[in-house]
Amino acid sequence: MRIDIITIFPDFFTSFFEYSILKRAQEKNTIKIHIHNLREYSKNKQKSIDDYQFGGGAGMVMCIQPIDDCISKLKTERVYDEIIYLSPDGETLNQQICNTLSTHNNLILLCGHYKGIDQRARELHITKEVSIGDYVLTGGEAAAAILTDAVVRLIPGVISNETSALTDSFQDNLLAPPLYTRPADYNGMKVPQVLLSGNEKNINQWREEKSLKRTKERRPDLLE
Ligand code: 6GU
Repeated sequence: MRIDIITIFPDFFTSFFEYSILKRAQEKNTIKIHIHNLREYSKNKQKSIDDYQFGGGAGMVMCIQPIDDCISKLKTERVYDEIIYLSPDGETLNQQICNTLSTHNNLILLCGHYKGIDQRARELHITKEVSIGDYVLTGGEAAAAILTDAVVRLIPGVISNETSALTDSFQDNLLAPPLYTRPADYNGMKVPQVLLSGNEKNINQWREEKSLKRTKERRPDLLE
């Protein structure tokens, strides 16, 4: 998979993508992440990419020209499955959307700033708008980083234990069951006996029960 991220803060991503699983996935060439500095597509001396909004009102709007030039150039190089604008107006990201995106080959992520982008840039290029929740961020970069992390870890071979991503919280609309590791007794706090029994059927049944209980208590909306 190739992910092209368009941003006015390219440095935001450098450390984020240099850790653990995302780093390894890039080293193995399972994913390629390309960061594009939107300012480099500005045609004016000041390298500005935003302007006042027509009709008046507080806040700047990102101009169509640099966005169009950057995306148009990328589109001449390959076919994109989705061109995603990260915006609080978008569809709220969930596991199902991540699963679908993880099957794609080429994605563009456009990070918004200020009030947002010129509506015509949305109409011209954007195929999907994604939000990461009902709160407002200063820009789309953190959202793009979160989306990339959630999607890339689902690509086969990225996580070493292949079943691991499939047993995550949310993959079956259930939260994960409680987890334990050594020691089996920590100052009298004991690991549930069933997990030490070696009886796979009982263990799976216990985990399913605990998942369901946890989901009922914490996220009943997932069961509706
Ligand atoms: Cl994608 N962008 C911004 N600026 N704020 C958000 C968001 C995105 N998702 C939730 N809040």
